[in-house]
Amino acid sequence: MSFSILHTGHVEIRAVDLERARGFYVDVLGMVETEREPGRIYLRGIDDPFHHCLTLRKANSPGLGHYGLRVSSSGDLDALEELHKKKGILTRKIPAGHEKGQGEALRVEDPAGFPVEFYHDMDRADILVGKAAYRQGIEITRIDHVTNCTPETKKEFDYYTSALGFAFSSYRINDKGVIDRMFLRRKENTHDLGFQNQPGPRNRHFALWVKDWPSIIRACDTLTMSGLKDKIEYGPGRHTPFDFAVYLHDTEGNRVELYHDERMFIDPEYSVVQRAQANVGGQVSFPFWGMPAPESYIYDQLPVESIIDGSLKPSTPEIRGDSSLTESSLLPRM
Ligand SMILES: [Fe+2]
Repeated sequence: MSFSILHTGHVEIRAVDLERARGFYVDVLGMVETEREPGRIYLRGIDDPFHHCLTLRKANSPGLGHYGLRVSSSGDLDALEELHKKKGILTRKIPAGHEKGQGEALRVEDPAGFPVEFYHDMDRADILVGKAAYRQGIEITRIDHVTNCTPETKKEFDYYTSALGFAFSSYRINDKGVIDRMFLRRKENTHDLGFQNQPGPRNRHFALWVKDWPSIIRACDTLTMSGLKDKIEYGPGRHTPFDFAVYLHDTEGNRVELYHDERMFIDPEYSVVQRAQANVGGQVSFPFWGMPAPESYIYDQLPVESIIDGSLKPSTPEIRGDSSLTESSLLPRM
């Protein structure tokens, strides 16, 4: 029973108005529409060799449909199905073509209730880097990661590292001995998945990788000039001296991060356990530099769908004023 997960490959998000959402991601941010069908629009970045990395799906409220983890071969799906059945974890086979351009897939509900899709086959698409028409200033190249909120961080840590083979770039233990945030990777950068100890299951954001940090400045300029300045929720700022990021609300209410980080994580030993600093207090801010986060960023997270019927999963209740959250971003993403 062997398999190998490559990286976070795509996300499906809910959009109340598909054309409005397309306008945000394609007309304003410069992503590329590969294909559409009734109820779904499939987008990719300019350095994306595959059909889609972001699916906009018609729904009556925002939220996360699922996130897709690409595996190294289609045979890996059988091994993953066996693994999850042995663990008593809910699985669902998705036939080829259910999502345009995508081959057979396996969806599971991970131990904290998040909708995960494993897939290998996806139609190839033209890589657009180097084509003048796609040099618009905001160069979104591909998807990077998904960050979620759950009170079940230990369960998630064990599942993703021991069962699925993720490395951790860092995790942090708070003064109660609980993992309060963690960054897990399969590819060679900071993370494919992040988890924060907050009520859940809820999605905190998904992140699109941009070519360089000026793309983020130009995104903010373009949003402002497009009358969408209010969609810039938090940042720009730096988590570390090596990265640059901004968090946006899209037109549908989903949160998307534009992100670039210069570091490579090429040694398996690069795994850092951090200790929460006692009584740091204060507002959540970018840990290296940046403005304090608005309350919306701290507390307002997105629901996630059931893999069975697409209903939104209930979350454990939010606790406003939780002091562990007010200092939760003060340590860098190692
Ligand atoms: Fe998918």
